[in-house]
Amino acid sequence: MACEIVVDGNKCLHCGICARDCMVKALVFNKTAGLPETVKDAGGICIGCQHCVAVCPSGALSVNGVGAADCPPLGKLPAPEEMKNLIRQRRSIRRFLPGEVDKAVLDELKDLLHWTPTGCNDHRLRFFVAGKAEVVAFKEVTDRWVFFLIKSGIMGLLLPRYRRYFDAILNGADVIYRNAPHLVIVMAPAKSPCCHTDQVIALTQFDLAAQSFGVGTCWCGFAEYAFRLIPKLRRMIGCPKGYRIGGAMLFGMPAVKYHRGTQPLEFEIADKIK
Ligand SMILES: Cc1cc2nc3c(=O)[nH]c(=O)nc-3n(C[C@H](O)[C@H](O)[C@H](O)COP(=O)(O)O)c2cc1C
Repeated sequence: MACEIVVDGNKCLHCGICARDCMVKALVFNKTAGLPETVKDAGGICIGCQHCVAVCPSGALSVNGVGAADCPPLGKLPAPEEMKNLIRQRRSIRRFLPGEVDKAVLDELKDLLHWTPTGCNDHRLRFFVAGKAEVVAFKEVTDRWVFFLIKSGIMGLLLPRYRRYFDAILNGADVIYRNAPHLVIVMAPAKSPCCHTDQVIALTQFDLAAQSFGVGTCWCGFAEYAFRLIPKLRRMIGCPKGYRIGGAMLFGMPAVKYHRGTQPLEFEIADKIK
């Protein structure tokens, strides 16, 4: 996408910080004029990250018509202790209240998805946020495949560890969607620079944001595979050709309360810092 950077010379403080912070050097500081200016082909070089807009003390820059007035003002960040609590107390929720999430909260969570950082600022992620009726429809389609795989014996060969669930699944138990009232699915162009990572970041941020609102979430690897493998499910969410399904997350108001965090097994963290 071609970008247009505009500098308002009347507002500029001539500090040059915008040019110094421009990662792709689409902006340079002209010392003679005392103003930042765009380089030749800046439109094609600029990745639209809006760092120049955010860093300018006087709000003198805009990118593609987005200027200081369009951006959220700085707010209070969570204190380290609050962030630690969020990370340690985030749990996978697998039992949900039947009702959907309050629309105002849902709108806030959807809006926050736009702040997902992506490699090269590639803004082509797509999301599908499903409500109760859609999740029920996804289950019906998924069940047809799963029932066939179980009854034909294929599932037993593919996932022998899960044999103990097969009878319950055939009797209607929802071990994939867990009767959740919502599911968010992320898609990205398979050829985007950081396709996989962008998608994981999007749902990781969604996860933490949702739990900060008291909304329960659960990463759903089973649903991710179902959407990758079942063409009808891809059609139901309008997954464009060339896009890869990168993750699925159940969410809704929790029907379970945890009384403490967990103490996970430690990962190996190599550290040579003295
Ligand atoms: C990529 C990924 C896929 C997962 N898929 C499922 C799933 O399909 N169903 C499920 O019930 N839990 C799923 N989980 C949840 C994990 O089982 C859970 O994160 C883990 O047991 C730790 O529990 P906690 O999230 O409460 O800390 C998944 C988690 C991740 C990160």
